[in-house]
Amino acid sequence: MDSTPSNDLELLDKVINLAKRRGFIFPSSEIYGGFRSTYDYGPLGVNMLRNVKSAWWRDMVQMRVDVVGLDAAILGPPAVWAASGHLETFTDPLVDCRKCKERWREDKIDGVCPNCGSTEFTEARAFNLMFKTQAGPVEGEGATAYLRPETAQGMFTNFNNVVATTRKKPPFGIAQVGKSFRNEITPQNFVFRTREFEQMEMEYFVPPAEAEQWYRYWIDQRLNWYLGLGIPADKLRLHEHAPEDLSHYSRGTTDVEFAYPWGWDELEGIANRGDYDLTQHSNASGAKLEYFDQAANERYTPYVIEPAAGATRAMMAFLLAAYHEDVVEGETRTVLRLDWRLAPYQVAVLPLSRKPELESVSQEVLAILQPHFACDYDVTQSIGRRYRRQDEVGTPFCITVDFDSLEDRCVTVRDRDSTEQARVPIADLLADLRQRTGQD
Ligand code: GAP
Repeated sequence: MDSTPSNDLELLDKVINLAKRRGFIFPSSEIYGGFRSTYDYGPLGVNMLRNVKSAWWRDMVQMRVDVVGLDAAILGPPAVWAASGHLETFTDPLVDCRKCKERWREDKIDGVCPNCGSTEFTEARAFNLMFKTQAGPVEGEGATAYLRPETAQGMFTNFNNVVATTRKKPPFGIAQVGKSFRNEITPQNFVFRTREFEQMEMEYFVPPAEAEQWYRYWIDQRLNWYLGLGIPADKLRLHEHAPEDLSHYSRGTTDVEFAYPWGWDELEGIANRGDYDLTQHSNASGAKLEYFDQAANERYTPYVIEPAAGATRAMMAFLLAAYHEDVVEGETRTVLRLDWRLAPYQVAVLPLSRKPELESVSQEVLAILQPHFACDYDVTQSIGRRYRRQDEVGTPFCITVDFDSLEDRCVTVRDRDSTEQARVPIADLLADLRQRTGQD
């Protein structure tokens, strides 16, 4: 029986509490009272976040011959951000409440101060979202640097390097996963909008005449990626932006939206950026960022189709979609029904007791499984309690080593979702788990 909270904001609270209590996500600098809108990923969170990024990299880079990877610098000179348009246009309209002096994003508050209810505000000012810093010990204009607000620009500034070194020709993509920084005025909703976050972006360079076709292709691919990793279809939808809502670079943008506890909101954006970026950087740098098609004896500036996802935001969506409460043997349990590829631990090895013979067989089991799966090892508390603890963090398989294991060289494999148990010879365990996870 499913008894998952029906009140959505209750669900958000439960997921935030679970994330803290079990070591997924901690408020940053907590012992100093916290630092607003920054989070640290704990022992389980770091596993899961890496799994989200690995799943993306596997599908977007490893499994394709038309996409290559990149890891560009986070710090960049003002020239890059002037050419990209970020210095000029990457701004939010900022207003101050005249009564309580709180500062808000004008487009997010419907004319009413969320703090005190006042409708009196200062004139809106454009507030640039980039973090400005200084590179080197000497202050002054020449030392100004910015933390990147998106990973995308590294793919454009390296376009010639990548073409020259890989001999790729359009259509081809450059992919990158890494941190981005935005001085968001209203960071909110846990890790949904933070000032420091991770992105997973791919710039797909295409002949201009093929741009529309590839735009549609990538919308489809990206929606299916979330479905394939277990987000139910009724929690995902596509939202195509109206022409007047497009970013300064975009000829078309479609968001993959997720049903968050507060309503439908962006999970990922897929944009047709046209030739905006390569043209801007060509003009500003003097480097020709073009492609010469030898067969057609034609030089052109490729268009860019960009699927741009947030790794930290996606992790939050996967957690929300996976959270369930059900009743097993008359007891309510919390279970994260995470796809095995995303779960922090795929396997937990649980000796029934601390007897050295059992621990020794358990170590054998670990040695077999650890090269292939992320394994937890737990010898504390009753076996029922340990199953619940693993269910709560989404571990798909628990392996119990009991006294019979010493005689029959078999262990019990328990499935998280069905709670069904099966006796499996230790010698067949790896093959059994590979089959259960669809790898054989
Ligand atoms: N290069 C295009 C670009 O950066 P974006 O829609 O601003 O587009 C892409 O960002 C994705 O990055 C978003 O869909 C979201 O998942 C994630 N993202 C953006 N700002 C974020 C923030 N402040 N906190 C967490 N994730 C964010």
